[in-house]
Amino acid sequence: MGSSSARTGEALFERMVKVVPGGVNSNVRLEVAQRYFARGAGARLWDTDGQEYIDYVLGQGPAFLGHAHPRMLAGVTESIAAGMTFAAQTEIELEAAESLVKALVWADMVRIGMTSTESVQAALRLARAATGRRLFLRFRGQYHGWLDNVLVNSQEPWPRVASDGQLASSLDESITIEWNDLEAVHQALAEHPGQIAAIITEPMMLNAGAILPEPGFLEGLREITTAHGIILIFDETITGFRLGPRGAIGRFGVEPDLAIFGKAVAGGFPASVLAGNADLMSRFAKGTNHSGTFNANVLACAAIVHALAIMQSTPIYDTVERTGGQLMASLRGLFADFDLQLQVRGLPAAFHVAFDTADPVRSFADLQRADSERYRRLVPHAIDSGVWITGRGIWYVSGAHDDATNDATLARMTNALKKFVEHERIE
Ligand SMILES: Cc1ncc(COP(=O)(O)O)c(C=O)c1O
Repeated sequence: MGSSSARTGEALFERMVKVVPGGVNSNVRLEVAQRYFARGAGARLWDTDGQEYIDYVLGQGPAFLGHAHPRMLAGVTESIAAGMTFAAQTEIELEAAESLVKALVWADMVRIGMTSTESVQAALRLARAATGRRLFLRFRGQYHGWLDNVLVNSQEPWPRVASDGQLASSLDESITIEWNDLEAVHQALAEHPGQIAAIITEPMMLNAGAILPEPGFLEGLREITTAHGIILIFDETITGFRLGPRGAIGRFGVEPDLAIFGKAVAGGFPASVLAGNADLMSRFAKGTNHSGTFNANVLACAAIVHALAIMQSTPIYDTVERTGGQLMASLRGLFADFDLQLQVRGLPAAFHVAFDTADPVRSFADLQRADSERYRRLVPHAIDSGVWITGRGIWYVSGAHDDATNDATLARMTNALKKFVEHERIE
C-alpha cells in the first residue's frame, strides 16, 4: 500500500507543484504534498490509486461525524440549491445562531465566520475594545491561526516569529508562557500591570500533544481574569463539540468570556464561530468591526444546523468515548508487545502518541522529551499499512469509527510496527 501505491499522487504532485507553491494550499500539508485522496466515507479514505485507509487525521479534526455523512450532504445540498451568498440575512443563519446559543448554554450571542484564524482576531479585537488594553497572554505550543500577531515558533529560543515576512514587532502584542502554570500567569500580570486585555488558551492543549488542564488551572485562569478585568478567551477550535456536546467548557466546567469554535462545529464543512455574552458581543453592533463577504453563508449555516442536530440526536459522544477509549488501550497493549516506549495520552476523542517514557506531560516543555523524529519515521509504515496519521502524533476519533475500524487498525498497526522495528534493526 502507500508509497508503492502512491504513483498517481506523485504524478498529480508533479503537475500541482508547477501551479501551486509546494504543491499545497496550506503549509501544514507540506509533509503530505504527494498524497491525493479521491474520496472519503465514514472513517475511511481512498487515495487516487484506490488504496483504502482508516483515517485518524479527519481533515485535522473537522470530520467528527465521519466523511460524507449522508444527513450532512442531504441537508447542506438542499439549502445551497437555493443560493449561497446574498449580503443580507437568511433564515438558516438565524437557525444556526439560535441552535448554537442553545447548545452552548453559557453564551448569549454568536458571530459566524469562515475560519478560526479570523474568529480569533475578532475575539482579540473585542477584548481590546472592551478593556482599552493592548496586550494578550497566550501559551507556548498553542496555535491560534497563521496571522502575524498569533503565529509563534515555540522551539528554543521562544517565542519568535515562525515565518519569513512576519513582522517581529507583531509579537510585541503578546506574552507567551508555559501552559498549566498559574505562577507564570501571576508573574506576567505583575510585569505588565493593567496592560493585559485577554488571556487566550486552548482549554485542552491539542496543537502540541494532547495535554489536559491540570485540576484548578482553568479555574485559576477564570479567577485571575475576573479579578483583573481581563477577558478570558477559550480557543475551542479543536475541542468544541468534540470533547462533548458543550466542548471543553462542558467537560471541564469553566466558562470563558469568549470562545472560538471551528472544525467539528460544522461537521466537516468550512465555518467558524465566536461566542460570548451579550455585553461583549453586542460591541460588534456599536463600533467594533467584524466583517466578511462569506460570513454566515448558507453552506456554513446549513452545515452548523445539521451538524448540531446530528450531534444532539445520536449517541455520538458515547460512541467516540467507547471506541476511542478501547483504541487507546489496545494501542498501549500493542506498543508494549513490541517493547516500544510509545505513550498514548489524552482523551478518546483526541489523543497523542509519542516515543516518551516518563509522566507527567503538563506543557510544551515536557513534550520536548519525546523523540518526535523517531515517531515521524514510524508514520510512513502506518500509512503504508493503511492507517492515515500524521507526524504530529495526534489521533482524532470520529463517530464513524467503530469496533471494525479498531480491529483493522490493530492489525494494520501490528504490520506497521513489524516493519518499523525491522527497519530500525537494519539501520
Ligand atoms: C486551536 C486552533 N485555533 C485556531 C486555528 C485556526 O483555524 P483555521 O485553520 O480554521 O483558520 C486552529 C487550526 O488548526 C486551531 O487548532
